[in-house]
Amino acid sequence: MCGVARPVRLAPSILSADFACLGAEIDRVRAQTDWLHVDVMDGHFVPNLTIGPPVVEAIRRHTDDFLDCHLMMTNPGDFFEAFAKAGANSCSFHVEVGGTGELISALRDLGVGVGLAVNPETPISAAEPWLDRVDVLLVMSVHPGFGGQHFLEEAVPKIERAAEIARRERLELCIEVDGGIDAGTAGRVAAAGAGMLVAGSAIFGRPDPVAAAQEIRRAAEEALAAPRAGGR
Ligand code: DX5
Ligand code: ZN
Repeated sequence: MCGVARPVRLAPSILSADFACLGAEIDRVRAQTDWLHVDVMDGHFVPNLTIGPPVVEAIRRHTDDFLDCHLMMTNPGDFFEAFAKAGANSCSFHVEVGGTGELISALRDLGVGVGLAVNPETPISAAEPWLDRVDVLLVMSVHPGFGGQHFLEEAVPKIERAAEIARRERLELCIEVDGGIDAGTAGRVAAAGAGMLVAGSAIFGRPDPVAAAQEIRRAAEEALAAPRAGGR
């Protein structure tokens, strides 16, 4: 589901964009946008509040970009329909909230891409039983809630493990990584098997967001082109 047009896909996270001119910010990074990552926070699952369906609807009116909504919510299922109507292309909810099977079915029924997100302290084994039923596995590489945090290395073996399962089971799984991604960390996660890299502050927080996104993409592509240790 990540798509195959480019070897490494980028999902700029609008969390670090200037909300006062969101449309212009989205347009600015369009050439480097494979998916647009929309962080929805409920002030309960995470200690922060951001945006909801009305803003997604406004973004949808503005752009045809694939809207990848990351629902950091305790009750994501209560809002699936609203996000679907607003124009979300995919919704990722967290495995930590429970009821994963029902939530997957509910999103499928709405015709929206299904993503399962895993927090840094949650073992990847919590997501493993569901990997053949989801389109996206969202591996968190920071504690969700805020942009601009440092990358947590424990995400790397989780990505490797998920990629190994996806290869073995021949799953069409998009492995997405979110948090602390920049030109310094992109190579490690791409080599581990992440196909979609979310970056907020390392794109929108830079004076030239397009050049910053290109740098991230280049770093990831170089890592993929490099011979792997152990000859894999
Ligand atoms: C964090 C969000 C991320 C955030 C990433 O809770 O899920 O998508 O925007 O921001 P950076 O790239 O700055 O770590
Ligand atoms: Zn996110």
